[in-house]
Amino acid sequence: MFKKLALSAALALAVGTTGAFAAGGGDQKIENIKFSFDGLFGTFDQNQLQRGLQIYTEVCAGCHGLKYVPLRTLSDEGGPHLPEDQVRAYAAENFEVYDAELDDFRAARPVDHFPENDGVGAPDLSMMAKARAGFHGPYGTGINQLFKGMGGAEYIAALMTGYTGKEKDEAGTTLYENTAFPGGWISMAPPLEDELVEFADGHSNDVAHMSEDIAAFLMWTSEPKMMARKQAGLTAVIFLTILSVLLYLTNKRLWAPHKKKGGSV
Ligand code: HEC
Repeated sequence: MFKKLALSAALALAVGTTGAFAAGGGDQKIENIKFSFDGLFGTFDQNQLQRGLQIYTEVCAGCHGLKYVPLRTLSDEGGPHLPEDQVRAYAAENFEVYDAELDDFRAARPVDHFPENDGVGAPDLSMMAKARAGFHGPYGTGINQLFKGMGGAEYIAALMTGYTGKEKDEAGTTLYENTAFPGGWISMAPPLEDELVEFADGHSNDVAHMSEDIAAFLMWTSEPKMMARKQAGLTAVIFLTILSVLLYLTNKRLWAPHKKKGGSV
């Protein structure tokens, strides 16, 4: 009986993981990164998210939108956790949104979302870290997902650092060789270079560090409630464990009078 149960549980896990987007095979080069949000107890690093936000604003926002992300969530606990007045100032300073009532553009407010941006055909980055899985590890076990995550953040970081420097022109577009991009050639020019962004806290701003910061930020935009989800999951597991023990003991007690001491039933 137990064997059967264990088998079906393992099977369920396997089916659950292989159904997801299966990148990371083939010739892509994506390495695991130890992010603060990995694992069962992982949480976002508030300072890292704030640096990522700055990189997004100064570099990526020129081409990419974040249209599913409400600006007010920048003050959420568990996220970048900026003070509300800073969020208000940040929104007004950096973005304009179209207001149907005014029939005109106005400075963005915390109630607005980050604007979309499809000027150069760059995809929206709101859900990118969830849309792209970097790896699944040993296929079907789901173990990597549990301990290292899906690899979406790793994929983004690898994309930032994966440029080889080679370029080619194809049908009027310049393509850049990139070891993380499926197919190996991407039309996005290398967006980061060392010291492109200056952080107020003097944090390291080489490409490798900034890649991790922007990847963490985009993981947060994809899954802003990750912390709440992990907490709920953990509570459920603890609850179910206690319940199982109680049920086991109840069962024993109920059947005790019917069982002969030491013998079979
Ligand atoms: C000059 C415009 C431009 C800038 C700036 C830019 N990108 Fe892109 N990005 C693009 C374009 C265009 C594509 C589509 C490339 C393609 O599909 O070949 C793209 C694609 C992407 C993708 C999707 C790759 C995939 O798997 O489909 C990610 C992730 C990405 N960019 C992240 C970033 C990040 C992070 C930054 C800021 C550090 C950034 N980009 C800055 C133009 C830009």
